[in-house]
Amino acid sequence: GEHEIVVIEGDGIGQEVIPAAVAVLQAVDEVGFSFTEKQAGDDTRDQTGAALPETTYEAAADADATLFGAAGETAADVILPLREAVGSFVNIRPARAYPGVDALQPETDLVFLRENTEGVYSGHEDRLSEDLSTLTRVITTSASEQLAEYACSYVTERSIDGFHTVHKANVMQETDGRFRDAVSRVAASNDVATNEVLMDAFATRVCLNPTQFDVVVCPNLAGDVLSDLAAGLVGGLGLLPSANIGQTNALFEPVHGTAPDIAGDGIANPSASILSAGMLLEYLGETDAATNVQMAVESVLNSGPRTPDLGGNASTEAVVNAVIEQLSSH
Ligand code: NAI
Ligand code: MG
Repeated sequence: GEHEIVVIEGDGIGQEVIPAAVAVLQAVDEVGFSFTEKQAGDDTRDQTGAALPETTYEAAADADATLFGAAGETAADVILPLREAVGSFVNIRPARAYPGVDALQPETDLVFLRENTEGVYSGHEDRLSEDLSTLTRVITTSASEQLAEYACSYVTERSIDGFHTVHKANVMQETDGRFRDAVSRVAASNDVATNEVLMDAFATRVCLNPTQFDVVVCPNLAGDVLSDLAAGLVGGLGLLPSANIGQTNALFEPVHGTAPDIAGDGIANPSASILSAGMLLEYLGETDAATNVQMAVESVLNSGPRTPDLGGNASTEAVVNAVIEQLSSH
């Protein structure tokens, strides 16, 4: 049957790279889709008063999967509820260097499994006085265990030899201590090997030698920051896709934001969004199509055309057309 996909372009280059990803999905002949466009972001807030209208939230909650671009200053008001709409408990962020793309660390190939519901992103901030503001950091055993169960299945299904757990439990003994203990308990009961790395040490180690890491399991904020760091190792934000996975639903988005410095110029790198569409195909069980999309992007990254962020001078459209051409040459 057809897969029902909700498409939310959002702001800035979201309006350029998401149509590119949809064009690639439409070019995948063997899979049928129906696309429904929904609004969210700064423009939507200006027009309707709400950055994430109820109809968009409901559509994402009901869809087979959602493809989202980025939102500008309303990012937190859009993406946090959207992740909640699909019940997402893990954010998957692969960071891989590609042949043909200049990378600080060309051997990088790792994936972050980031806790997606709590940490400092679900805690609330308070202004207690003129001088003092505070933030509550939330860590639950249940969310940590759910992430760890997912990580165990992820490495087992792919025959990967265990994972690294990144945390800062030496300082945040109560919260990250709870996270670390829950993850290692679940790993042990699944016979999955784990290594622990403190998050500051991880930042150094991944820069110096990323090949020592394969699957990295971490709390919310650490995963956000460290995956952007890894983007720097592989050639920039234009390359990193992500998947927000829930029990029965999921949301796919590039890691990058609205890129106001290049928005409207038609030169945004569509690779992150097309690779996100590839992750969407994999999630829907369309494994062959997912592989074809991944290979088509890799081939174009290797041979060009390339957008300016990768040192080329091609437009978004030229890259998308090249990817679609690769797809149909299979
Ligand atoms: P950004 O990711 O939008 O841009 C950072 C740098 O990377 C810029 O120089 C930009 O040109 C470049 N870049 C990003 N994606 C690119 C692509 N596909 N092709 C070529 N170059 C690309 O991050 P920034 O500047 O910190 O944030 C801009 C806006 O985006 C802010 O309003 C922020 O709130 C929002 N944002 C939204 C996110 C979301 O909706 N999930 C995530 C991150 C930021
Ligand atoms: Mg981020």
